[in-house]
Amino acid sequence: MGKLFISCALPYANGSCHLGHLRSTYIPADIYARFNRMNNVDTLMVCSTDEHGTPISVRAEQENINPKDITDKYHELIKSDLEACNISLDSFRRTSDPIHYELAQEFFLTLHKNGYIYEKEIDQLYCDNCKRSLPDRYVTGTCPYCDSEGARGDQCEVCGHHLDPIQLKEPHCLICNGTPHEEKSTQYYFKLHEFQDKLNEWINSNEHLPSNVKNFAQQWINEGLNDWIMTRDMSLGVPVPLDDSNKKVLYVWGEAFVGYMSSAATWSNEHDIDWREYWDSKVVHFIGKDIIYHHTIFWTSMLMGHDYKLPYSIVGGGYLSLEGQKMSTSRGWVIWAKDFFEMFDSDLLRYYLVINAPLNRDTDFSWDDFQRRINNELIDNVGNFIHRTISFTSRFFDGEIPEPGEYTGEDEEFENIIKDLPGKVGGYIDNFEFREGLVEIMNVTKRANKYFNDKEPWKGVKEDMDSAKTCLYLSNQLVHILSIILGPYIPETTQKIREALNMPLENVKGFTEFDEREPKVKWEESNEFLEPGYKVNKTKPLFKKIEDEVIQKQKDKLYKLLDNEKENKEDDKMSDLISIDEFGKVRLVVGQVKEAERIEGSDKLFKLQVDLGDEVRQLVAGLAKRYTAEEMVGKKVIVVANLQPAKLFGVQSNGMLLATESMELLTTDGNVGESIQ
Ligand code: MSP
Ligand code: ZN
Repeated sequence: MGKLFISCALPYANGSCHLGHLRSTYIPADIYARFNRMNNVDTLMVCSTDEHGTPISVRAEQENINPKDITDKYHELIKSDLEACNISLDSFRRTSDPIHYELAQEFFLTLHKNGYIYEKEIDQLYCDNCKRSLPDRYVTGTCPYCDSEGARGDQCEVCGHHLDPIQLKEPHCLICNGTPHEEKSTQYYFKLHEFQDKLNEWINSNEHLPSNVKNFAQQWINEGLNDWIMTRDMSLGVPVPLDDSNKKVLYVWGEAFVGYMSSAATWSNEHDIDWREYWDSKVVHFIGKDIIYHHTIFWTSMLMGHDYKLPYSIVGGGYLSLEGQKMSTSRGWVIWAKDFFEMFDSDLLRYYLVINAPLNRDTDFSWDDFQRRINNELIDNVGNFIHRTISFTSRFFDGEIPEPGEYTGEDEEFENIIKDLPGKVGGYIDNFEFREGLVEIMNVTKRANKYFNDKEPWKGVKEDMDSAKTCLYLSNQLVHILSIILGPYIPETTQKIREALNMPLENVKGFTEFDEREPKVKWEESNEFLEPGYKVNKTKPLFKKIEDEVIQKQKDKLYKLLDNEKENKEDDKMSDLISIDEFGKVRLVVGQVKEAERIEGSDKLFKLQVDLGDEVRQLVAGLAKRYTAEEMVGKKVIVVANLQPAKLFGVQSNGMLLATESMELLTTDGNVGESIQ
């Protein structure tokens, strides 16, 4: 039996779970775990709370409490959130556990022994008011890569670049808002640059990395890797084993990954099974897109430096926004898992967050869309089909699956469709394309309702019994298939389907009990047809439609927040949403670059002459780190034609080119001078 190690990103123990966490990380991991278990893969799925790092210590300081008070509380809250969503973890621990300290220190010492750690004197930021050094999130400032304000000392959220606090322009202390100065300090560094080629090779040759993860990683590696500072002067964290001063701890990202292993090791000790057998077989990390860098670059090279097996894949889920706006826990623009599950079954959320968009894309939660997809898709397709099939069987065939009659072309086609379904869905899940698998199921159930309507078995039982029997024979087969293959997606509902089918049930709720690790229901059973004469149960409706009032109430609750904010900040524009009229004010035109030259003194900027059809415009664009001047010439681009002129490096720019935040130019096949609508 194959073995599989699944990890989910370790949630910081300074807040509860919201729908974003579940969307990018925990629901996908659970689908993959359940699918593998059903395929006889001995699966170990682990997680822990991440209890170190500046987000937690900053908050403890701001609230004047002990970090442990925060992490104790949130460990329990997060645990119950994940259990409520039926994330079937085998082990859920804490990075504050002694075994984690032990393994994290051991990991660091091995890297040191293998020659990948060295000491270096550096400049770091020190706040005179607070009388302390300011690592990571103790500082904010302007990002040196993309110039956005509000970048944190460890990472810029806008461009995703990993940062050193010292790189920030105009840094400020987060505790007192003072301007820090630089001081010398000795820290431990990891020789990340030595892994550049090996990482490159691994990323290029790994066929299982989803494309978004691969692209990000390639881009970062191409930019060149700098050695990585692994330690911090602060008190919360895992003490650096080589340091006698007792002032240094391992950087949270230098030890949190080991949490995957320490969680597994705790489980190992309890059950006398060696977790390394799982690691050595196949490892898949589930994370959100903001931490792709950490996993593809830092963690993978740490593993290389330790000679551990490298992950089979790293799956990075896109971000979830809420009603068209970025989620913000500080503003309260967020839906907490706990609040959601008080109102709705977790399967409804699982369905919605999976079907809503491919995993590697960002997507949005909207209450109206949630209601629509549940009522018009899940209930109308799946619920309706199962209900009508089972109740028809009870009513006209005494609850027994009838013997099929002679197949028509229509029946044959339908049989082929349902026979192909489990294989297709399994292939998608295996490939981390969870949405695509679910869409396949939805298309087939939609199709099945049409088949049922077209076959009109209610007429058949009077006029053409053979046709009715075939219809119900095949329809019941699909219900049976659904009672298996929906299991990874909507496990609780799937049990209800099994109940209607009179099939053995199993416990799918919460975390996984040790002795329930092997599911009773196997995926391969979805390839077997039930025999005529098999007796089904009576049915109860699987779902209840979500009423308008219920959705309205949730929307009111959320939007009240916006109203309050509007009152509080009259002139601050809080909404990220714009009207079509506002968008219409932006005049976008297709242009072609005629000339490009680099602007002296800047390593980023080009001076361009762009043909807009009836005029040639001079523009300045910050793309010189990505493209050469020769590459720019001839490109058909999209120009914001009615932007106020500005001067950059003394050069006039009369408009702007569109490009992505990673400096990929938006190009077009449109005609020069054409406007874009
Ligand atoms: N502690 C780190 C992970 C360490 S792994 C060794 C962390 N914690 S987190 O609590 O901020 O995030 C937990 C997971 O949720 C991560 O996979 C993260 O990418 C994901 N998300 C956090 N906010 C999210 C959204 N708004 N949308 C989607 N995923 C989000 O990162
Ligand atoms: Zn300060």
